[in-house]
Amino acid sequence: MSASLASVSYIAATILFILSLGGLSNPETARRGNLYGIIGMAIAVLATIFGPRVTMAGIPWIVGTMVVGGAIGLYAARTVQMTQMPELVALMHSLVGLAACLVGYASYVDTSIQFTGAEKAIHEIEIYIGILIGAVTFSGSVIAFGKLSGKISGKPLLLPARHWINLVLLLLVIWYGREFVNAHSIAAGYLPLAVMTVIALLFGIHMVMAIGGADMPVVVSMLNSYSGWAAAATGFMLSNDLLIVTGALVGSSGAILSYIMCRAMNRNFISVIAGGFGTGGGTAPAAGAQPAGEVTPVSSIETAELLREAKSVIIVPGYGMAVAQAQHTVYEITKLLREKGVNVRFGIHPVAGRMPGHMNVLLAEAKVPYDIVLEMDELNDDFPATDVAMVIGANDIVNPSAQDDPGSPIAGMPVLEVWKAKTSIVMKRSMASGYAGVDNPLFYKDNNRMLFGDAKKMLDEVLVALKS
Ligand code: TAP
Repeated sequence: MSASLASVSYIAATILFILSLGGLSNPETARRGNLYGIIGMAIAVLATIFGPRVTMAGIPWIVGTMVVGGAIGLYAARTVQMTQMPELVALMHSLVGLAACLVGYASYVDTSIQFTGAEKAIHEIEIYIGILIGAVTFSGSVIAFGKLSGKISGKPLLLPARHWINLVLLLLVIWYGREFVNAHSIAAGYLPLAVMTVIALLFGIHMVMAIGGADMPVVVSMLNSYSGWAAAATGFMLSNDLLIVTGALVGSSGAILSYIMCRAMNRNFISVIAGGFGTGGGTAPAAGAQPAGEVTPVSSIETAELLREAKSVIIVPGYGMAVAQAQHTVYEITKLLREKGVNVRFGIHPVAGRMPGHMNVLLAEAKVPYDIVLEMDELNDDFPATDVAMVIGANDIVNPSAQDDPGSPIAGMPVLEVWKAKTSIVMKRSMASGYAGVDNPLFYKDNNRMLFGDAKKMLDEVLVALKS
């Protein structure tokens, strides 16, 4: 393939990636967005393999590694549970970071192109920054994977003087960068490069270890952004325009998503990065702790009664619906109620579940119509006029202490105001806290009922009662 045909293919792939991102911004166009992305990536891969920079001898290597990598990716995608998706994404980001490091070292030892003067300095700075971002992304993503999968505690690790430690690490990176660019030979550059790589790896570990469980969604999206910049840096090292543009697209969209999530959790981006917020995963109240009030349990038959008598119902799904895989039964109930003339809508919090769009994906899978699935801001004012707010496996996103208790770890986070409905029903298995590890005063409100049990099992019972 000629160089100009490869360039045209790269431009076509870039356009398809932009269309793909546009499509993914809405559930109705997401499938099309995915298709654009697949076609764009296929064009990009083919144009690279058959482009002017790959020799015939290199093709079997590329195809061989693609088959191995593709098989692992296919296996992971087929076997991963929806609730494990953020872990998988974190792991994928770590691979992008690792690739940037390896390409950086390979570019440095590759002497087939001799750079001189300013060009040499620019090439070396590209390598240095590429490996720096890659190493931070790699180690940070591995720790994020450990935290999300529960292999490492979600509690923030707060070393004394941690901000000073970070500052010293940054100064060392700058110092060794100078040493690297001023090195007289390739061999002399290895030491500063290796020291910086170790510092960057430690920095990535320290940065994510200091961030508490409740901020992990922002961290994953931030690492997504880093992985984009790492790919862009790799593009500079390889002089590959498509990789630069694609990396920049991922980097900037990840940064925008992090910003949106910070706003959804009312968190300041800098304070998320500075760490120390949130605790581990869900915990039962400590033994001997005073219950914060009395709860009113309700049965599935009584829940069906309340739903049958309601004119308007808002369903608020959360992480527990994903765990229980209750979305199909939720839709069966929704259909039944709508046939009886009940106005049923879904209220989706931006960080419900464990990844952006988690609830939308599950509800779309169960074929819930998009027009009754609304964002938090679109229906938060409607709760006072709602007969029943049914909370399915959600906790933090309906916690009134975010508004009432300035001392709460989730203070200021916007929440769905389900307690303003005439009756709220919370479906969960126990009194355990949610992801942020904080108690929920909603459970003790007079107009709240608790339907204890696995969401799928309870909803199956509610469905049977509704049908009878
Ligand atoms: P959580 O606050 O985590 O609450 C989920 C609740 O579901 C738990 O209290 C749990 O109580 C219940 N549950 C678990 N399995 C269940 C089952 N089989 N049946 C019924 N209930 C079940 O979830 P949320 O309200 O969706 O809030 C999301 C939280 O995750 C936020 O703190 C958010 O910051 C964080 N987070 C979000 C993301 C993104 S991007 N969405 C990513 C990572 C973290 P029981 O154990 O008593 O059943």
